[in-house]
Amino acid sequence: MIISERVNRIGVSSTMKVAAEAKKMTAEGINVIDLSVGEPDLPTPQNVKDAAIRAINENETKYTLNAGTVELRKAIAKKLKDDNGLDYSIEEIIVSNGAKQSIFNAVHTVVYNDDEVIIPAPYWVSYPEMVTLAHGKSVILPTEERDGFKVKPEQLERAITPKTKALILCNPSNPTGSAYTKKELEKIAEVIRGKNFYILSDEIYEKLVYDDFEFISFASLSDEMKQRTVVINGVSKSYAMTGWRIGYTAGPEQIIKGINKIQSHSTSNASSISQAAAVEALIGPQETLEQMRREFERRRNYMFQELISIEGISCYKPEGAFYLFPGISSFFHKSTETLKIENSFDLSMYLLYEAKVAVIPGSSFGAEGFIRLSYATSMENIKEAIVRIKDALVKLA
Ligand SMILES: Cc1ncc(COP(=O)(O)O)c(C=O)c1O
Repeated sequence: MIISERVNRIGVSSTMKVAAEAKKMTAEGINVIDLSVGEPDLPTPQNVKDAAIRAINENETKYTLNAGTVELRKAIAKKLKDDNGLDYSIEEIIVSNGAKQSIFNAVHTVVYNDDEVIIPAPYWVSYPEMVTLAHGKSVILPTEERDGFKVKPEQLERAITPKTKALILCNPSNPTGSAYTKKELEKIAEVIRGKNFYILSDEIYEKLVYDDFEFISFASLSDEMKQRTVVINGVSKSYAMTGWRIGYTAGPEQIIKGINKIQSHSTSNASSISQAAAVEALIGPQETLEQMRREFERRRNYMFQELISIEGISCYKPEGAFYLFPGISSFFHKSTETLKIENSFDLSMYLLYEAKVAVIPGSSFGAEGFIRLSYATSMENIKEAIVRIKDALVKLA
């Protein structure tokens, strides 16, 4: 049996290979500390769980509107107004099964047939694969650690062609945690003013920013940018709700109508119960979110200080998300008895076998020479992981 050419064109990322090996070792009874995680370790807030239980007991258990309940879309519109100063009607908002589906649908609404999509690297692993599935072409723009992994306006300008259909901006970024200031976003907006393509702005880590960093939604920069921006956000990361699968998109009505069509022929509405929970997350008390944010900030500060004290490691101090993305290329070409380290995948495997710590190679995110460490795990785990990483790297040096 032959599977489709389209599926053959996309790959399983090397993220999976490290994770699979880590799982295997854990199953064998080895104490592996997992710093590859992409979700908060804290539980979903109790008020959110209670809202879901209420929804079940009140039989809110049927299909909802394809675009999501009116109540949830009103809560999202209020959030976008209060937090980002953006006015969207509920016809300009659609709820999907996680922000991943929101992005998938947005890419498929905008991109087809060799359309070009500009993606700054390091990028979230799924963007280029989604573009490939939509028959588009990814134009990858490498960024530098010394620039905070932010795309330079002149670099962006050079990448724009008549075939450009979209720019995907991940702000704050997975995997680097770096986030754009208002000034930096304005410089990007200046370059793309008057051009004919969309900005898909993935703002899923919006609430997880540190040191009084002020998050700005790309759509709020000007009327023109609002007309051309598709805002993607959700409750997964901010409210520790990854399993509930609620993401949303706000944007020009014709884009939302397109997404509505795709969703109506694939998954239909997101879970009715999760939608009721998401209403509570967005409009209910926000204290647990702030507690979680502060805890992440504490862990980021600790992990960052420890990492930069290790000889051979460089690290950008990120503004947001829950990842650090240290440069580790100085360990390339070092050897152990059994392994020669040539790239970030080799170093990740070395750390897994030698330190029993799971990390993700930068190559998975289109950035060789780095690894991604998540601090969405307990301080105790982080402290032990750092000790183990230091010991393992000293052996290499
Ligand atoms: C940058 C980015 N966008 C989107 C998502 C998907 O979020 P969700 O779990 O809501 O589908 C993730 C999850 O890892 C992410 O890191």
